[in-house]
Amino acid sequence: MELSWESDSFKYIKLIEYYIMALRLGDIAPDFRAETTEGTINFHEWLGNGWGVLFSHPADFTPVCTTELGTVAKLKDEFAKRNVKVVALSVDGIESHHQWIKDINETQSTTVNFPIIADPDFKISGLYDMIHPNANDKFTVRSVFVIGADKKVKLIITYPASTGRNFEEILRVIDSLQLTANYSVATPANWKDGEDVVIAPAIKDEDIPAKFPKGHKRIKPYLRTTPQPNK
Ligand code: BEZ
Repeated sequence: MELSWESDSFKYIKLIEYYIMALRLGDIAPDFRAETTEGTINFHEWLGNGWGVLFSHPADFTPVCTTELGTVAKLKDEFAKRNVKVVALSVDGIESHHQWIKDINETQSTTVNFPIIADPDFKISGLYDMIHPNANDKFTVRSVFVIGADKKVKLIITYPASTGRNFEEILRVIDSLQLTANYSVATPANWKDGEDVVIAPAIKDEDIPAKFPKGHKRIKPYLRTTPQPNK
């Protein structure tokens, strides 16, 4: 593909942004200052020593987003139990967000209890690569970023605008990530809280009994399972 700066400068900038800015697992989540429905936040300071979920929406006053924000509000205790703060983002302005929250509370029988970032100048959505121009160049896609206590990005999921997210799945991944952060384990396919977990390959057989006193199964030399350590 031949590009010329005069006619394709926007594409050049997007390409540069793509290579420089694309966030990957293990990167430090970019810090930012933002206006939200609960006041101005400095992201890293607001996260404190806990975990975070930052998730974006295509736009205010849209049906799927309305159900998503209501669902997240109802899961507040589940996120809090895991020491996770939640913050949403859409590219609409703060006044629009406040008006929309009234509709969410009314239609979803809840009270929105987390901040929604107003990002009308695309500052934060650009930083987190939430605009996918080939899907839509004006609205954010449904991005989810899980950020660990070390401020590193632990999970990135991207859904299309037409599919509402499964927040039970996001809680499930947080459970898995927090287990990995605290014990030398990973979680198998379709794992749910309370089920057996996989012992990390780096752990030697002879170290298993001391590290996993609840016992273990050695199905193959590389496949060893143990009851969930924190249950
Ligand atoms: C929604 O949130 O309902 C929605 C937003 C953009 C496109 C399609 C659906």
